[in-house]
Amino acid sequence: SKRVAVLTSGGDAPGMNACIRAIVIACERQGFTLFGYQHGYNGLLEQEYEILAPQATHNLIQQGGTVLHSARCEPFKTDEGAKTAATNLTKLEVDTLIVIGGDGSFRGADHLADFWHGQIIGIPGTIDNDVAGTDATIGYYTAIDTVVSSIDKVRDTADAFERIFIVEVMGRHAGFLALNSALASAADYVILPETFDQCDAELDKITGQIEKRRQLKGAISFIIVVAENVWPGGLNDLANKLVSKTQSEVRPVTLGHVQRGGSPVSQDRLLATKLGTYAVSLVGSDTNGVMVGELNGTPSEIPLTQTWEKNKPLNPSSMETMLTIMNERY
Ligand code: F6P
Repeated sequence: SKRVAVLTSGGDAPGMNACIRAIVIACERQGFTLFGYQHGYNGLLEQEYEILAPQATHNLIQQGGTVLHSARCEPFKTDEGAKTAATNLTKLEVDTLIVIGGDGSFRGADHLADFWHGQIIGIPGTIDNDVAGTDATIGYYTAIDTVVSSIDKVRDTADAFERIFIVEVMGRHAGFLALNSALASAADYVILPETFDQCDAELDKITGQIEKRRQLKGAISFIIVVAENVWPGGLNDLANKLVSKTQSEVRPVTLGHVQRGGSPVSQDRLLATKLGTYAVSLVGSDTNGVMVGELNGTPSEIPLTQTWEKNKPLNPSSMETMLTIMNERY
């Protein structure tokens, strides 16, 4: 009977627990022993694990965060670190390691494969959705909802004061979360890494749009969503430039880690449950060094290296919609 280990690594995402739950249950059905490593790759270095038994899954599907805890682990990136991890996995006689995380976690898994020859399977878990080979990552849908409900609240006060607001949305270097939450919250403008040109051009577009709306409707509120890490001088620089260009009050809001929390929405629970189950179905097969995902409703597999090397474009229909009813085409 197989010995399987699972860990969660990198930024936690709502639905990671739902995925762990599915893995626990699927392993139990197969008669596999399942070890849960704690604190991401740190757990591998410290041989910090527990056996995950089915009792551990009660009330787990709806919990945000990750019961295995997560971490970003610098020492693991060295050869020494990965060798230690490999030795520990071998000591525990692990056949298959399942890594739930984003591209940083998969880079880690690929690095481990240089030193450990067991089976490695990745499952995409990150609010950023910046992983190729799957339409969505676990946590992404919940994060969209969290951003949308936050922007709904910002809009109330923006309307009351007829103010301009800038809302910074996470996503690391990708605009998935910013674009789709901006659309779903009826924001007025969105600044994305994928389309960002240069500051002056972007400022001209925004102020042009504000001016037009003011001529049409008088005083207005205006909500700009900006993806994190896009604006070269940061959020305050953008706010200051808009103040001087529009001669109006501008309030910056950083949503921050609020976006990572909360009970997963059903889409994330479903994706997590399906991918966890699918990963366990591959245990003991020849499939190795891949991430499992879902493309067009069908289970998919992609080599770990391609999850970060392959370009993942923003959803074309979201882009088209955005250009038609939000940012203007120029
Ligand atoms: O990858 C998830 C994420 O929340 C990104 O959106 C963000 O850039 C980053 O993690 C923040 O990392 P940390 O939690 O280490 O500050």
